[in-house]
Amino acid sequence: MFPSLPTSLAVLALALSPAAVLADDNAESVSTLDFKNRFVSSGIVPEVIAALDPAVSFYVTYRADDGHSELITPGSSLTVNETSALPLEFSVENLNNATNITAQTRYLIYLLDADAPSRSSPTARNLRHYLAGNYTLNSANSTVLTTAQRLSIPEANRRPFTPFTAPTPDANSGVHRFIYALYTQPARFNTAGFESVGMEAATANWNLSRWRTQLGLGPAIGATFFTIDTGAAANGGSGSNSNNNNTGNAAGANAAGNVEARGYLAGVVALAAVVGALVMV
Ligand SMILES: *[C@@H]1O[C@H](CO)[C@@H](O)[C@H](O)[C@H]1NC(C)=O
Ligand SMILES: *[C@@H]1O[C@H](CO)[C@@H](O)[C@H](O)[C@H]1NC(C)=O
Ligand SMILES: *[C@@H]1O[C@H](CO)[C@@H](O)[C@H](O)[C@H]1NC(C)=O
Ligand SMILES: *[C@@H]1O[C@H](CO)[C@@H](O)[C@H](O)[C@H]1NC(C)=O
Ligand SMILES: *[C@@H]1O[C@H](CO)[C@@H](O)[C@H](O)[C@H]1NC(C)=O
Ligand SMILES: *[C@@H]1O[C@H](CO)[C@@H](O)[C@H](O)[C@H]1NC(C)=O
Ligand SMILES: *[C@@H]1O[C@H](CO)[C@@H](O)[C@H](O)[C@H]1NC(C)=O
Repeated sequence: MFPSLPTSLAVLALALSPAAVLADDNAESVSTLDFKNRFVSSGIVPEVIAALDPAVSFYVTYRADDGHSELITPGSSLTVNETSALPLEFSVENLNNATNITAQTRYLIYLLDADAPSRSSPTARNLRHYLAGNYTLNSANSTVLTTAQRLSIPEANRRPFTPFTAPTPDANSGVHRFIYALYTQPARFNTAGFESVGMEAATANWNLSRWRTQLGLGPAIGATFFTIDTGAAANGGSGSNSNNNNTGNAAGANAAGNVEARGYLAGVVALAAVVGALVMV
């Protein structure tokens, strides 16, 4: 039996289309619940931020070492080389689940290292690597996840408060968790920078709760994170927060350590059962 003509044409079209040739990524949507659970299983909640209840799925696309564009799903393990430049794309899904959003809404995005100089002794927590406002929805969707709408800064409004600095964590300082977060921008910053409310340029020991109060921000509407493994942690580690070699987290949030990125779903499923009601901050 030969396949029907329409089927043959469809197969041929698929084989020839640029999308099929360049398909480099099995990017899939991640639910807001999975984002939330991953922030708990990684220990970021409550070690770094008290709680996260994302309204939207927030994605970052980066250039992988093999040259492909890839989506960061929460917990992806990246190399220093892969994170040496600003991401290729920021994008969002489920925006209609966020309150007080219009087509004109502007957003701000940061990147920080929660584990500076190391998770076992995070004396510079948090270290800010990027902060910029004036992001708006772009008419284009993500090239790796076509259901996610892109966010970008129109050139005329590009005034990053903290220009991007590439992560360069110390060798042998263990696994570092780098967090990207997305907030809606209060209208006053459409015409003024964050320095207008006294925000300081220093990037180390960035106090997020103080900062949110200073800028008048609500909670993050979305967030994601990746890890960079610098090699053996100098783990004098005694505290429950300093264990990067997590073998189980049945005890809940405080005991959670890092779960390797690729293949994180088992952790998510296991945690879904454990995660109770979290208060939004
Ligand atoms: C909608 O947003 C709320 C937080 O604002 C979150 O708790 C809920 O899970 C989100 N729902 C979906 C379907 O993403
Ligand atoms: C670094 O990334 C670029 C692509 O952005 C790639 O061409 C290069 O091979 C990478 N280097 C290493 C050492 O992986
Ligand atoms: C682009 O993204 C938006 C928002 O997620 C979605 O509603 C729309 O269907 C997407 N467009 C395409 C062509 O997939
Ligand atoms: C709604 O959004 C605008 C612009 O982001 C902001 O200035 C305003 O305070 C928000 N209102 C509420 C009730 O959150
Ligand atoms: C947004 O862009 C305007 C210029 O159009 C600028 O005055 C303002 O400082 C920018 N705000 C931020 C937070 O980047
Ligand atoms: C961050 O600032 C808040 C006040 O907004 C303060 O209560 C808290 O102790 C500070 N955290 C650190 C680690 O300094
Ligand atoms: C991880 O930690 C457990 C218990 O703390 C220990 O038995 C195990 O050897 C460690 N594994 C590695 C690879 O360090």
